[in-house]
Amino acid sequence: MAIEIKGTGKGIPSRRVSNEELARQVETSDEWIRSHTGIGARHIASEENAASDLAVEAARQALDMAGLEAESLDLIVIGTATPDFQGCPSTACIVQNRLGAKSAGAMDLAAGCTGFIYGLETAAALLCIKRERRRVLVIGVDVLSRITDWNDRGTCVLFGDGAGAVVLEKTDAPSEGPGKRGLLRSILGADGSGAEYLMIRRGGSRHPWKAGETIDSSACLEMNGRAVYNFAVKAMTDTIENLLKEEGVGIEEVARIIPHQANARIVQAAGKRLGIPEEKFFLNIEEYANTSAASIPIALDELNRSGGLSRGDLVMSIGFGGGLTYGGNLIIW
Ligand code: UT7
Repeated sequence: MAIEIKGTGKGIPSRRVSNEELARQVETSDEWIRSHTGIGARHIASEENAASDLAVEAARQALDMAGLEAESLDLIVIGTATPDFQGCPSTACIVQNRLGAKSAGAMDLAAGCTGFIYGLETAAALLCIKRERRRVLVIGVDVLSRITDWNDRGTCVLFGDGAGAVVLEKTDAPSEGPGKRGLLRSILGADGSGAEYLMIRRGGSRHPWKAGETIDSSACLEMNGRAVYNFAVKAMTDTIENLLKEEGVGIEEVARIIPHQANARIVQAAGKRLGIPEEKFFLNIEEYANTSAASIPIALDELNRSGGLSRGDLVMSIGFGGGLTYGGNLIIW
């Protein structure tokens, strides 16, 4: 029995905001953003669109590619830090209804930018645990533009909106030995001592909005960029090494690494430490910036649709983010 990806998709808002456009609103420049992050543009959701709208688009594309109807799904798992509504209902329930996935359970998962990596492993485990469960839709979606302080040049240049989705199916292919396929293993990690480094302080049960309170700013994502940078390089380096060690394979056997697209310099630093050639990492950060939980499935879909993955390729995803969380998956395509 193997857990295989049968379809991929993405939902990207049409509005594209270039670095130059941003530089007319805050004190920054195309040169600074590109040289410090590798970002050239980001896509921003319209006022009418929330996380579920982008997620539904990505889900439909993934289902189309898999040749499956939404009715055949047993579960929908969504990694997001920007759900349509806080806490209840889950964005997964909204997507379940919009898709008409009548037989599917639905839940959101909060693991920051690592949400898709956590989602894949969660979905795979739930497929294994019950014989009748066959298909799970896993989505990473975030609309970070809604929780971005657009006057803070230290964060607003980094983020974009988007969704990415995969359909996971339990198949009869082997998951061990010759001809093995699908999701081989994952690492899921966390270091809650760094919780303050990426935080949406207001709006939760710790600091709820109160009636009568004058609100002079919306709930925003606060970040200690330097601390997250250092954590990210170490988390990426350790996770790549540990995935290879656990699976007993060398880096030369990995066809492509799909990293969380937060900053091209983080990826380059981790690659340099491990002696991995830059071309092994797939980067599309220049076009989309950091789309949080969506960045890995969007990249996976682009790589897949452009013919960049062949059957049998060993593919690695690596992520890190708010929590702090980190992790990775090893998949045979
Ligand atoms: O998904 C996970 C979430 N986040 C991340 O992964 C982010 C991790 N951190 C980073 O990617 C980097 O730390 C940043 C890109 C956020 C910042 O890059 P940096 O090279 O660490 O810059 P810095 O914060 O040390 O700032 C250097 C200078 C400062 O000026 P002074 O004090 O040297 O005069 C900043 O004020 O750059 C200034 N600066 C900017 N200048 C122009 C900061 N942001 C900007 C900007 N445009 N947008």
